[in-house]
Amino acid sequence: MKPIIFVTRKLPEAVEERLRRDYDPILNPDDVLYSSDQIIELSRGADAILTCHTERFTADVIGRLPESVRAIASFSVGYDHVDTAAASARGLIITNTPEVLSDATAELTMMLMLGAARRASEGERLVRAGEWKNWSTSFMVGTQVTGKRLGILGFGRVGRVVARRARGFAMEIHYNDLKRMPIEREEGAIYHKTPEELMPHCDFLTLHCVASPETTKLLNGDLISLLPDGAIVVNASRGVVIDDDALIAALKSGKLTAAGLDVYNGEPEIHPEYRRLFNVFLMPHIGSATKETRMAMGFRALDNLDAVFAGQEPRDRVV
Ligand code: DGY
Repeated sequence: MKPIIFVTRKLPEAVEERLRRDYDPILNPDDVLYSSDQIIELSRGADAILTCHTERFTADVIGRLPESVRAIASFSVGYDHVDTAAASARGLIITNTPEVLSDATAELTMMLMLGAARRASEGERLVRAGEWKNWSTSFMVGTQVTGKRLGILGFGRVGRVVARRARGFAMEIHYNDLKRMPIEREEGAIYHKTPEELMPHCDFLTLHCVASPETTKLLNGDLISLLPDGAIVVNASRGVVIDDDALIAALKSGKLTAAGLDVYNGEPEIHPEYRRLFNVFLMPHIGSATKETRMAMGFRALDNLDAVFAGQEPRDRVV
């Protein structure tokens, strides 16, 4: 008998095909966003769950999952939607999908930087609304990216790919992480021991840290005040790492020139003030949304499940 996998969201066709070939999947063809009660109900009899970051596995949900569930494979690199302590206490295996989305997320980060710096939202709105009437030397003047200093808060897989792409724009790379990278992995990036020490070196700041209690509201008013005046902030990691009120205040006061955001506290219900600000370039959490990466994420999640059911240690086990 094939293991039963409850799949909480609709996945790319090739991924679902492999699921049907190797497992007995409970699919979600209409891509319904299930409630916690529905997740528990639909997991009945399942050996594992394949989920996305959109479903929250709190301690309560984990405690109510049927005994049959041995593993949760997440179709995401982030796993802040899973209460890892509760999963560990219950003996559940949790896996994620690192590496395969670093390129796509780094691309989107570059887009956020460029879009925020070159006023992409404003320009697009103007053209679409038929309000583009003329050209002048002061029209839509933005901030040049080339040759500027880029600060990377969180120098993990995605952060390091961003550094490589940014070097194509002759940017000088500065970073902070819990510890310094081995020198060959820095590729010339300059390490700063604390976020506070990093800030004054950032004409642009991009956040690539893991969401955790320690990083919640990491970018707050105090840290923003240490950035050079007119800096630009981008975030394609998780919304919780930013204190929205502090960022909005800095965007309004002119302390920051602009921001580019792909992720938000409480998304998709974002802080309403972001919608009213012209100097923010807003994207709807699409960092990893390329055809190639979506497929790779699905296959990587399946590789992890294959290992679980072959009695091996899954490559991307986080719990
Ligand atoms: C991730 O993989 O964490 C992305 O945010 C999509 O879920």
